[in-house]
Amino acid sequence: MGTSFVAHVFFLLWFFATTFSFFFKAESSVTCNEKDKQALLNFKQGLSDPYGVLSSWSDQEDCSRWDGVVYDNKTGRVTELSVYWVGGEISGSLLQLEHLNYLDFLESDFNGTAIPTFLGSMASLTYLDLGNSNFSGRIPHQLGNLSNLRYLDLSGNDYLYADNFHWMSNLSSIQYLDLSRTKHQSEVGWFQIMSTFPSLSTLIVSDCELVNLNSSLGFGNFTSLQYLDLSDNLFSHEIPLSIFNSPKLESLDLNSNKLIGKIPESLGQLKQLTYLYLTHNSLSGPIPSSIGNLSYLKDLDLSDNQLNGTIPKTLGLLSNLENLSIRNNFLTGTVDEEHFSKLSKLETLGISHTHLFFNVKSNWVPPFQLKSITMSSCKIGPNFPTWLQTQRYVLELGLSKSEIADKAPSWFWNWTSNIMFINLSDNQIEGDVSEIVLYSRVINLRSNHFKGQMPQLSTNVAWLNIANNSISGPISSFMCQKMNRKNILMVLDVSNNLLTGAIPHCLKYWQSLTHLNLGSNDISGRIPYSMGSLVALQSLHVQHNRISGDIPSSLKKCSNLRLIDIGENPLSGAIPPWIGEMTNLTILRLRSNGFKGQIPLQICQLSSLIVLDLANNSLSGHIPNCLKNIDAMTISSPGFEAQYTSDHLSGMFLDSSIYFENLMLVPKGVELEYEENLRFVKMIDLSSNNLSGSIPSEISVLSELCFLNLSQNQLIGKIPEKIGIMKKLESIDLSQNHLSGEIPSSLSSLTFLSHLNLSYNNLSGKIPLGTQLQTFDALSYIGNTQLCGYPLPRNCTIGEESQNRTSIGKIEEDSDNSNFYIGMGVGFAVGFWAVCGVLFFNRTWRHAYFRFFDDMKDWVYVTTVLNVNWLLEKLRSCHL
Ligand SMILES: *[C@@H]1O[C@H](CO)[C@@H](O)[C@H](O)[C@H]1NC(C)=O
Ligand SMILES: *[C@@H]1O[C@H](CO)[C@@H](O)[C@H](O)[C@H]1NC(C)=O
Ligand SMILES: *[C@@H]1O[C@H](CO)[C@@H](O)[C@H](O)[C@H]1NC(C)=O
Ligand SMILES: *[C@@H]1O[C@H](CO)[C@@H](O)[C@H](O)[C@H]1NC(C)=O
Ligand SMILES: *[C@@H]1O[C@H](CO)[C@@H](O)[C@H](O)[C@H]1NC(C)=O
Ligand SMILES: *[C@@H]1O[C@H](CO)[C@@H](O)[C@H](O)[C@H]1NC(C)=O
Ligand SMILES: *[C@@H]1O[C@H](CO)[C@@H](O)[C@H](O)[C@H]1NC(C)=O
Ligand SMILES: *[C@@H]1O[C@H](CO)[C@@H](O)[C@H](O)[C@H]1NC(C)=O
Ligand SMILES: *[C@@H]1O[C@H](CO)[C@@H](O)[C@H](O)[C@H]1NC(C)=O
Ligand SMILES: *[C@@H]1O[C@H](CO)[C@@H](O)[C@H](O)[C@H]1NC(C)=O
Repeated sequence: MGTSFVAHVFFLLWFFATTFSFFFKAESSVTCNEKDKQALLNFKQGLSDPYGVLSSWSDQEDCSRWDGVVYDNKTGRVTELSVYWVGGEISGSLLQLEHLNYLDFLESDFNGTAIPTFLGSMASLTYLDLGNSNFSGRIPHQLGNLSNLRYLDLSGNDYLYADNFHWMSNLSSIQYLDLSRTKHQSEVGWFQIMSTFPSLSTLIVSDCELVNLNSSLGFGNFTSLQYLDLSDNLFSHEIPLSIFNSPKLESLDLNSNKLIGKIPESLGQLKQLTYLYLTHNSLSGPIPSSIGNLSYLKDLDLSDNQLNGTIPKTLGLLSNLENLSIRNNFLTGTVDEEHFSKLSKLETLGISHTHLFFNVKSNWVPPFQLKSITMSSCKIGPNFPTWLQTQRYVLELGLSKSEIADKAPSWFWNWTSNIMFINLSDNQIEGDVSEIVLYSRVINLRSNHFKGQMPQLSTNVAWLNIANNSISGPISSFMCQKMNRKNILMVLDVSNNLLTGAIPHCLKYWQSLTHLNLGSNDISGRIPYSMGSLVALQSLHVQHNRISGDIPSSLKKCSNLRLIDIGENPLSGAIPPWIGEMTNLTILRLRSNGFKGQIPLQICQLSSLIVLDLANNSLSGHIPNCLKNIDAMTISSPGFEAQYTSDHLSGMFLDSSIYFENLMLVPKGVELEYEENLRFVKMIDLSSNNLSGSIPSEISVLSELCFLNLSQNQLIGKIPEKIGIMKKLESIDLSQNHLSGEIPSSLSSLTFLSHLNLSYNNLSGKIPLGTQLQTFDALSYIGNTQLCGYPLPRNCTIGEESQNRTSIGKIEEDSDNSNFYIGMGVGFAVGFWAVCGVLFFNRTWRHAYFRFFDDMKDWVYVTTVLNVNWLLEKLRSCHL
């Protein structure tokens, strides 16, 4: 008590002493120059100051006490000015501050006005920071007059541009230049100009729309450059060799361009290089062996390129290397102990999605202690990598698809207790997990050979994916286990195991769940009322079990549900009308149950619905004609985002912190597994029910629908005339109904149609001619005794033959027929780019795409191959 009181008093004394000395210091020195003070007051007049940062600038106070003003205490002249969060107009009165050498407008908003040209006359300026201040327009050439300028930052003014850089050539003192996010698309000779600045040490021209680094004129060499950031531009040529003549370069960032060719051997000349980022380009060839000369190198990131060839052993010489990432390349060959021989400082090892064979001895003791190990889709097995046991500080472990076919060693689970992210999926790792306790935040053990009962969870675990193993025992003993009651689990995927028993009532302990997949087990009983306590749930899969009874009304409390998959169970009862209140519902799959009664009209209120799969039930009544109200099927909108990355897990742990929803669908007569390709699916499958009445003509409003299956019902009447408006349709199955009348000619304008089944109806007349409808084989049409014309063997009578097309189905689409062949090409191109464009140009997606390339069981096949084949077929038929 006593000592703390004394300490307090001393603190106060010290505080007053320092504060007063500050005041007195100012008092005792020369006051601020009156002319400068008036200039500053004028300058303040022009500014808007929404945050009051200039409130200390008052006529009554000496300007030496004003915030952001620094003056020379000998001459009284203002030398430095930094004002922040202001706006308005920058007054020319600043010109009177003849001694100003430092000017900084931190994070201001000048509302898209131009940079005032008079700044170019402030000859004493050595430091000028106009970054992130919402200037736009052309960068005034007058700035080139500032021959004393050492620091210039114009970055982050997105609408600022330069027509050329010649005006810059007088900035002979420049040391630091940051132009990021300003636009310089038309500039060509800029790199050459920059290379003439003798003192330039930092050059940042990231995200400037620059297209070319090369110059036919050759370069001067950067003699002082230490830091060069050219990331996020549009360079699509080879890395210019001249860069490697910059003897002082410490950091080189060329990431996210379109650079091609090899990484030159002359890289080894950059002896000082500490940071090298060449990520996200199209570089090919091997990693140059001269890389071993870069003895200062700390960060080496070559990921997301097309590098092939082997990894040089010289890599093992980089004794300062901390972060190594060569992910997503086509590298081949073996990596062994020698590649790491001197890498004692290595913390990050990212070699996933290469074709490398990581072949080290089982008793290897690596020189490093890693924090992040990501080696997914590399060959590591068949033996379990025992060297891992030497690593004591690991936070992330990614060993997915690494061909390990071995028992998890006894030390392993204990060893993982400090790891945050673990991904061991898609191996053949064995072991009984009944007794283990999991501690990691994200654990992916999907598709292995784990057995025994479910493991226990510490209160740390947020994601557990143990799908596709041989886990057995009652699901209740896991969910009601005392230790697990305090769980914070968000994602639980136990699908495709051997779990038994009923879903227990203790679901109230699992309220943080957002994604629950219990599918493909041997779970029986009813869906418990307590399911309604999972209010955070976004997706619920219990498909392919033996769950009976009806859908409990408590489920409507789970109003965040976006996906419900309860297909393939013996569930019964009616589809509850309250389902229409689950406004976020996007995927509803009730396939292959015993549901009876009518399809509730409330289903039409689900404006986000993109998959409605009610096939193979005992539903009766009419197809609701309100389906046209389902916006997601009528308006072009993003599909279902199957990739789930929790916000707080995102970023660096990409290898393990992505969870994919998956779903079995029957888009074209064959069951397929959908994952990320769910975003391209919009389907209605009502097949194999007892639906009666006619197909509502309003269905043609669903212009975004890709797959429509109404087969095996009791439908009568005609195929809607305007079906041709549903331009996105890839598959139509209306088979095994009682449909009559002619096939509407508009069907022929469906340019994406690659699967058609109209068999076993009472259709009549001639199959419309001149379109891809003839590329389907006769099986698409058989069982309609009145139908004639190719591809059916039955020729139409003369009378039918002479009928012209417009008289069969008169609809507005016919006016498009002259444009049909062009339209087909455009249609295909649009469809193709909707798919592939997204894939190749969206970076995160491309990431995921490459990572999960092998998982793409269907989409690539169905959408690309089929469409391409179909297109070729089409072109051939056009030429006939
Ligand atoms: C003037 O400034 C210099 C450095 O900024 C400082 O060392 C000196 O003490 C100051 N003189 C007075 C009288 O405050
Ligand atoms: C910002 O500029 C817009 C026109 O570009 C103008 O309408 C608006 O009044 C300006 N706002 C301020 C605060 O000056
Ligand atoms: C920048 O200026 C534009 C006017 O040109 C204005 O619309 C915008 O709100 C300003 N602020 C930012 C942060 O872009
Ligand atoms: C400043 O630059 C402009 C254009 O670059 C030029 O016309 C002008 O003469 C220069 N002024 C001074 C004082 O150098
Ligand atoms: C640049 O450096 C290289 C090698 O150091 C030298 O051969 C070349 O002449 C230099 N170019 C210029 C323009 O100085
Ligand atoms: C690497 O790729 C290039 C271009 O695709 C090819 O010419 C070369 O043969 C490949 N090298 C190896 C080692 O596979
Ligand atoms: C796991 O670690 C705990 C202490 O952290 C220790 O008590 C236990 O014996 C270890 N188990 C095994 C199998 O190593
Ligand atoms: C639907 O989802 C949005 C976020 O996408 C959420 O804000 C909203 O609360 C959800 N609606 C319901 C009824 O839960
Ligand atoms: C159908 O007509 C074509 C020519 O119009 C003829 O070659 C063919 O033999 C006919 N087939 C039958 C089964 O009548
Ligand atoms: C096709 O139909 C139009 C309008 O119904 C008619 O004028 C024309 O004569 C018909 N052509 C043939 C070849 O029957």
